[in-house]
Amino acid sequence: MNPEPDTPTGHDEARRTFLKQSSLLTALALVPAPVVMAAAEGFDERVAAAFEKIPLSLKVNGVKHKLAVEPRATLLDFLREQLHLTGTKKGCDYGQCGACTVHVDGQRVNSCLSFAVMHDGQEITTIEGLADGDQLHPMQEAFVKHDGFQCGYCTPGQIMSAVACVREGHAGTADEIREYMSGNICRCGAYANIVAAIQDVKGGGQKV
Ligand code: FES
Ligand code: FES
Repeated sequence: MNPEPDTPTGHDEARRTFLKQSSLLTALALVPAPVVMAAAEGFDERVAAAFEKIPLSLKVNGVKHKLAVEPRATLLDFLREQLHLTGTKKGCDYGQCGACTVHVDGQRVNSCLSFAVMHDGQEITTIEGLADGDQLHPMQEAFVKHDGFQCGYCTPGQIMSAVACVREGHAGTADEIREYMSGNICRCGAYANIVAAIQDVKGGGQKV
């Protein structure tokens, strides 16, 4: 008698078991020997124990913080996970998209590329710190006015870079703006409107 269509036969079961076992063996064969030895000796736990939290004191959006961080925490993860400032976005986590741009002592940085502990005593500004209460920052207003965003995922990083671009004196022409904003990627392609927003702020002469 034929088996039910969805009921595996003994042959199918054996084949599945064989495939699972051979995948496992292949995976194990690919793990470098020192890693296998380290795991066996609990080395990874000893390494983790060595990463004790260390004290950090810094000012974020005008608020002083004294706390402890893991030395391996990036500034991006520290802001998002420890301070719950989730306006700064994680795009690539490799310094290639600019979604995580914040200002450190007035300079723009990709927060995914630095460790939080490197910023002891420094002043950080995130997108949450740009507005003055209910009053949007001129660059935020310009982005709204010029439709400088679509899905909005890249927008916090774009705005932080755009402010820095004007402050640095790199917003003289559309080409210059494109050049100095080139580290901020927009998957929605809102580039023309972003350039228009920056030109508007630059031309308006407002204090940024
Ligand atoms: S998340 Fe930092 S540059 Fe992409
Ligand atoms: S607005 Fe969607 S990624 Fe830039």
